[in-house]
Amino acid sequence: MVSHISKTFRSGRGQVNAVVDVSLKVPTGCFAAVMGKSGSGKSTLLNCIGGLEIPERGEILCFGTPINRLTAGALSHFQRHHLGFVFQRGNLLSYLTVAENIGLPLTLNGIVGAARTKRIETLLAEIDLETAAKALPHELSGGETQRVSVARAIAHHPKLLLADEPTANLDTTSGAQIAQLMRNMGREHGSTIIMATHDRDLIDSVDVVITIKDGQVQGENQR
Ligand SMILES: Nc1ncnc2c1ncn2[C@@H]1O[C@H](COP(=O)(O)OP(=O)(O)OP(=O)(O)O)[C@@H](O)[C@H]1O
Ligand SMILES: [Mg+2]
Repeated sequence: MVSHISKTFRSGRGQVNAVVDVSLKVPTGCFAAVMGKSGSGKSTLLNCIGGLEIPERGEILCFGTPINRLTAGALSHFQRHHLGFVFQRGNLLSYLTVAENIGLPLTLNGIVGAARTKRIETLLAEIDLETAAKALPHELSGGETQRVSVARAIAHHPKLLLADEPTANLDTTSGAQIAQLMRNMGREHGSTIIMATHDRDLIDSVDVVITIKDGQVQGENQR
């Protein structure tokens, strides 16, 4: 789905080849981890796949859609319907409750009323936070925040879930729980997952590990 993409940044530090001629195919329903040192290009690669960055070369076919060639309007429509994002710090909206945060992608996708309420209840049960529906994000622990972030990212049953270091701020046990949660929810909803991580302890949760170094794929290991 990713074919010969390259992304270069020009900044105060000169030219940085963040992603260099990367080709990848992640099968539908697969949970893939992208691993590599800090600065190896993991975030840039995920951002290109999700249409948050546009590579200057190559093509990205996301379930048959060439997302790097869409107009801005078509891209945001595609992202809203088919993609879910989890970031390192969760990025929950601080003025919305847990339930409202989870409900946001549902509203954006026209899922409203009883169907929305039911879906939020189910997700809250899946992340074991039924009692926190009315809590605000600052009242949650780091692990709880990331559980809500996963629920929000997957609420609209995206085809592809992109997670950039979702466990970076967590201890080993909480990190492993988040990875398992993504795995279970991804399976249940048929989502493909690509997760950037430093954390070798998460390898047991994934189907394939893609190693990158200096913006290039070094290898792929099936688990
Ligand atoms: N917006 C930007 N402008 C300039 N350079 C950038 C930009 N984003 C990333 N880079 C550079 O591109 C390279 C790859 O960065 P990237 O963030 O993809 O690495 P990473 O593997 O995600 O690192 P980390 O593990 O620290 O998150 C780095 O050298 C970084 O400095
Ligand atoms: Mg990164």
